[in-house]
Amino acid sequence: MELFDRQKDAVGQGERTLLVYIELSSNRHVHNGMDEFEELARSSGLLVVKNLKVSRNFASAKYFIGSGKVEELADLVKELELDLVIFSSELSPSQERNLEKSLECQVMDRTGLILDIFSLRARSFEGKLQVELAQLRHLSTRLVRGWTHLERQKGGIGLRGPGETQLETDKRLIAVRIKSITKRLDKVHKQRDLGRKSRIKSELPMIALAGYTNAGKSTLFNTITQAEVFADDQLFATLDSTIRRVILPASGEAVIADTVGFIQDLPHDLVAAFKSTLEETRQSDVLLHVVDASDEYNREKIDQVEDIIFEIGAAKIPTILVMNKIDCLADFEPRMDRDKEGRIYRVWVSAQTGVGIDLLYQALAEQLSGMMTRAKIQLDVQSAYIRSEIYNIGYIHNEKVDDFGAWVLEINVTNHYLSKLLNKQGVKLLWEQNPQQKSLI
Ligand code: GTP
Repeated sequence: MELFDRQKDAVGQGERTLLVYIELSSNRHVHNGMDEFEELARSSGLLVVKNLKVSRNFASAKYFIGSGKVEELADLVKELELDLVIFSSELSPSQERNLEKSLECQVMDRTGLILDIFSLRARSFEGKLQVELAQLRHLSTRLVRGWTHLERQKGGIGLRGPGETQLETDKRLIAVRIKSITKRLDKVHKQRDLGRKSRIKSELPMIALAGYTNAGKSTLFNTITQAEVFADDQLFATLDSTIRRVILPASGEAVIADTVGFIQDLPHDLVAAFKSTLEETRQSDVLLHVVDASDEYNREKIDQVEDIIFEIGAAKIPTILVMNKIDCLADFEPRMDRDKEGRIYRVWVSAQTGVGIDLLYQALAEQLSGMMTRAKIQLDVQSAYIRSEIYNIGYIHNEKVDDFGAWVLEINVTNHYLSKLLNKQGVKLLWEQNPQQKSLI
């Protein structure tokens, strides 16, 4: 929709950017705030040319920062030929406008930047809607008379009601859009409550990566998928680059999903949008909570991530803590830690060098084994369609054709899928072994 182009255009690849990190008395507790802010900007594809820290005890009404600082920034913008200045604190619409006028370049705040990242990463239908809703709300507070970015909307035949100014038209269009998205979201929630999942997802174990921004989730995702990626991957590859089917050593086939990183001090209005980008987390069978082991503040970050996992209703999902970046710790060997019941709850790895990834596979295999079954089945000659379904869903160890022309397949599938298979005509169970039961039928 053209009306919202500014929002989408706001962050472009390689835009020359100045980051202004505001240290207020209220946010001095935030650790690594500047680094995280910079990491956010980079994950949006911006070229961070310079970053500045500005300490303030209060926000000035006109510019947020003092006017002397504004002059200093204006000089920097010219000298470094900057396209964009991003402030780490929330700016009011009028502060943003005043700064844009004085700095003669585009200005945005951290909320705008985070929204941009969410819109790049939102995957589910619901996630996309939530992000658009948050963007519209953010945009509607910024609509003011003479906002030239929306000028092109002028003359849109049929858009403007009788006697409406451009500003009123824009506000009305946004209100209409917000209403329609809210209605669609309601519907999505209802469908979700009916427990609808995509068919293939429900048949394969789902592993979701979660964790703080910069913990190394994407690196781990790439290490796992590049090493073991399933050749016939078009199904998910075409849908999304951050969800993949993989064949893991020892546990067989699974779906693995990367998610948006958690961020300190998430603006309140964005919490719903953020949570909805974590749909995969809620639906998963195992959660890999990735942690930067070399980060001195990781204990607090683990707590914050656990709080959100609880809030989105994913607390019951078995979780493995993946302590990543052990290559940054002196003399540290990969290892796994078991709890009193003997369950692996923590694995120490380096996603970058690959050290310890074999232990992670072992932990996953142990975790998933309870829901997987190895079985030998016979399919009669009329059941070719079932055979191709299994190829799509399960892991096939071997296949033979018996003397009567029937297929005999040794497969690894979820318990749930096996019971569904056995209810179909033309499918006969020859033997079954659940690795946890260790018994043959
Ligand atoms: P978000 O996308 O912001 O949520 O971050 P992420 O958790 O996906 O982190 P990402 O994989 O992008 O890694 C963040 C930084 O840490 C990158 O510079 C990586 O190269 C680096 N990194 C990831 N894993 C390791 C590791 O095992 N060792 C070291 N030394 N660096 C790593």
